[in-house]
Amino acid sequence: MDVPGLDLRGKAALVTGGASGIGAAAVRRLAAAGAVVAVADRDEAAARALAAEVGGLALPGDVSDSDTMTMAVDVAEDAFGRLNIVLLNAGISGGQSGLEDLDLAAYRQIVGVNVDHVVFGLTAAVPALRRAGGGNIVATASLAGLVGMPGDALYTLTKHAVVGYVRSAGPTLAAEGIIVNAVCPGFADTPLIAGVKAQFAGFPLLTADDVAGAIASILERGQPGECWYVQPGREPGPYGFRGVPGPKGSPAPPDVAWQEH
Ligand code: NAI
Repeated sequence: MDVPGLDLRGKAALVTGGASGIGAAAVRRLAAAGAVVAVADRDEAAARALAAEVGGLALPGDVSDSDTMTMAVDVAEDAFGRLNIVLLNAGISGGQSGLEDLDLAAYRQIVGVNVDHVVFGLTAAVPALRRAGGGNIVATASLAGLVGMPGDALYTLTKHAVVGYVRSAGPTLAAEGIIVNAVCPGFADTPLIAGVKAQFAGFPLLTADDVAGAIASILERGQPGECWYVQPGREPGPYGFRGVPGPKGSPAPPDVAWQEH
């Protein structure tokens, strides 16, 4: 999964949820490849520690807040003089069935972090990447964005939303040299699953660095709108979506990318 050729010298990056787990591994990858990196995270102490480690910038704050997310992009672009790569990676799990007795505050929070932050982050990043002459946006979705995960319906809802958003944004923004992708990892051994880790005894887990390696591969060769699966022991790659049937007997549909005929 390594991308030895990834050369990001001269590039500037912003990673949300960059202080822990997959985000932190990605921050280190990007920095090792030569990029300057801003670490946006609500865990201020951890963000500052990692930023100091990689010679980057800490941006403490809640990325589910629109103004905070916009400011993070602005501050990173100002500090670095450009912004080329934005990893919209912050995320939380559901913590409830989502099927009855809804905890409304917790529901709003997971939608805020897992969905709103991706929308706020992408819409804030597009003008900055445009000013840089193009760039990359990678949102961290999940395998739960590609298949149903009965244990956490709300998490699955949010990650499917991210996948749909990325697939729709990809072709549109590619015209301006802005490549949008999602990374869809299986279970990874990070603090996110610490509370349920016992359930994974004997089940192979990804490391955070496996996922960071997949993100590096996406940055190198991801095509617009692709959503890459990442599974232990397998080479990561773009998930092959099936089209839906078009109207029976119709001529070729205008967009064969999403319809079968
Ligand atoms: P983690 O819990 O280690 O890291 C998440 C980071 O996001 C933390 O540093 C946390 O402080 C930050 N964060 C959360 N809410 C925030 C907010 N509102 N504002 C600013 N920062 C915030 O978790 P992990 O596993 O590294 O998760 C990263 C992404 O990967 C998430 O989007 C998660 O859904 C996704 N993912 C994780 C998998 C796993 O099994 N660990 C599998 C598939 C996807």
